[in-house]
Amino acid sequence: MNKHDQIKAFVKEELEIFGGPLYMPESQQETDTERSPVSTDIQTLSEFNTAIEGCMNCPLGATRTKFVFGVGNPNADLMFVGEAPGEKEDLEGVPFVGRAGKLLTDILKAIDLQREDVYIANVLKCRPPNNRDPNKEEIETCEPYLLKQIELIKPKLLVALGRISASTLLRTKDSLTSMRGKVFDYHGTDMVVTYHPAALLRNPNWKRPAWEDFKKIREMYLEKRGEQA
Ligand code: URA
Repeated sequence: MNKHDQIKAFVKEELEIFGGPLYMPESQQETDTERSPVSTDIQTLSEFNTAIEGCMNCPLGATRTKFVFGVGNPNADLMFVGEAPGEKEDLEGVPFVGRAGKLLTDILKAIDLQREDVYIANVLKCRPPNNRDPNKEEIETCEPYLLKQIELIKPKLLVALGRISASTLLRTKDSLTSMRGKVFDYHGTDMVVTYHPAALLRNPNWKRPAWEDFKKIREMYLEKRGEQA
């Protein structure tokens, strides 16, 4: 076992025994580069998936069933970012496969896109227990993975699905309403914000404004690809 695997095994065992993050004096903590393989010489999404799918860098590693890396076209121009895997995603290892996912697939079809045309990922790659909101530690640990995915995919447009995804990535407490209709810069890539499909299932009144957002998303996507709307 190399040093990295030994540390991972130790952290996993501690989490199983104590059920929470463990304290390590700073001198014993790994450096960022040791802790995450993000900064290594990874060139493809599948290599990256293999490198991080055993991640135990936060407590969610010990409670997940499957790591949910992301799915879709590795060269997609359009990339959707949800919050975190839910129950079904955790079991299958694929994002947006539950009821909300089915709605997302239907909305994509309505703007002439298939899931295979776009890339779909989440801010967190592991399910928070009982689908609670992601916490700061989890976000800080996992967001570099999303950044690396974006670096490899190079989408022309990012869509944050829902307030939690958007406010987490954009470091704001703004409401979803105030974020909709604006174009943000997320580490050099244009990002727009719309409703989470699960919110649309809970509140069908939001389907009409969401449809307006998705028409705009399609227009921006075609424009960025140099195609006619
Ligand atoms: N909700 C999300 O934010 N992501 C998923 O993958 C599923 C549900």
